[in-house]
Amino acid sequence: MPQTDTSPAAETNDHLPRHQAERYRRLLAAFERTYGPGPIRVFRAPGRVNLIGEHTDYNHGFVMPLALEQDVWVAVRARADARVRLANTEAAFPPATFTIGPDIPAAEPGHWSNYARGAAQRLAREHPSTLRGMDALVDGAAPWGIPRGSGLSSSSALTVVIALALAALNHLNYTPTRLAHLCHEAEWYTGTRGGIMDQFNALLARRGHALFLDTRPDPNGDYHFAYAPLPAQHEILLADSGVRHRNVGGEFNRRVAACRAAVALLRPHFPHITHLRDVQEQPWPRLAALLPEQTTPRALAERGLDFEAPPGVTADTVLKVRARARHVYTENRRVLAAVEAMRAGDAARLGALMTEAHRSARDDYEISLPELDALVESALAVPGVRGARLTGAGWGGSVVILAHTDAMPRLQRHLTQTFQARFGRRPPLTVCRPSHAAGEILPPA
Ligand code: GLA
Repeated sequence: MPQTDTSPAAETNDHLPRHQAERYRRLLAAFERTYGPGPIRVFRAPGRVNLIGEHTDYNHGFVMPLALEQDVWVAVRARADARVRLANTEAAFPPATFTIGPDIPAAEPGHWSNYARGAAQRLAREHPSTLRGMDALVDGAAPWGIPRGSGLSSSSALTVVIALALAALNHLNYTPTRLAHLCHEAEWYTGTRGGIMDQFNALLARRGHALFLDTRPDPNGDYHFAYAPLPAQHEILLADSGVRHRNVGGEFNRRVAACRAAVALLRPHFPHITHLRDVQEQPWPRLAALLPEQTTPRALAERGLDFEAPPGVTADTVLKVRARARHVYTENRRVLAAVEAMRAGDAARLGALMTEAHRSARDDYEISLPELDALVESALAVPGVRGARLTGAGWGGSVVILAHTDAMPRLQRHLTQTFQARFGRRPPLTVCRPSHAAGEILPPA
């Protein structure tokens, strides 16, 4: 650590498997039908599954994601003006047009184009009045696309792929780290105050590995990260609960607010603190004694404490500070222990940490749901399963399971049967092979 940080376009997948070559040709044909003939470039960004380290990134803590094979592609052609015309291969996502600039008006909340607008606006703030626009056709359709709302970061992949394309068409030479940083800020455009994990992973993931990332930048703005191989003879299974939470933004920002409130409450005792990460070395009982079970922004203001409410959090929003801070504190320790376990090839230890992480997410961070808990508990009942937890922001989405290769068939059967018996539908299951970082896709031979 730190690792080499090469240009994002450096890792291209020019040896496209046959089905992807077909996808490429179809995308080009659809592009020409939409925008007419001419030169076309194609970029991709992968989804992510987080092995461990949930809700730690906006606290400057540790995470361990990996890139999915499922990804989002965009075919693009530069324009002479600053317009961006966006279309999507899926009819559910209607076309949109905007002009690149430092203050791009948003589409209605939830509109897919807001991720592209955020990316374009963030780049425009770095390069005022010089960016060219593009005609773009996005393809994230099943089966190769990232399932939406599954906690697999389809929205960050969209942000990243648009930023990557715009940067390439405008000859902007960003390192992946710098671009990840910009994309992370770009997503705040949509209102959610997430951290840098997803964008960083999309731009720096390595095939066959998990990415251990310290989300606190050093004084030069660099990040420390390392690649950890998955334990031999083990595989990762994703089980999708099928629950799509519609109001994640509001709940998410409440968790961010609780962490900021904990920082505000601890600052009189630890003057250097800016994020919860800063008290990671303290014994937990000392911190617990300083954190009330709950507070509100109004109560913090009355005590004269410095607190910035994220969007959607009001003066009387109840913030469960102690439990939320305990999750972040214990989760950071689990990620560090998980790296050690991976380096030692200790799948049992890694799995146990994942399961502990789930219980902490469920009980202290309160981001689980019955469907997610049921998938975790069913998985753990199968011999050869090392651990399981919800992955991503929570309130729906997927569960990530670490299991011995030999256990996979039985695990898949058991999950299907138990979930169907209780919830009346089959959970989509995906064996996950860690993929590589975002980049340009060269035309297939
Ligand atoms: C979302 C955010 C990430 C991270 C996770 C929770 O995916 O975009 O930055 O906070 O939730 O770990």
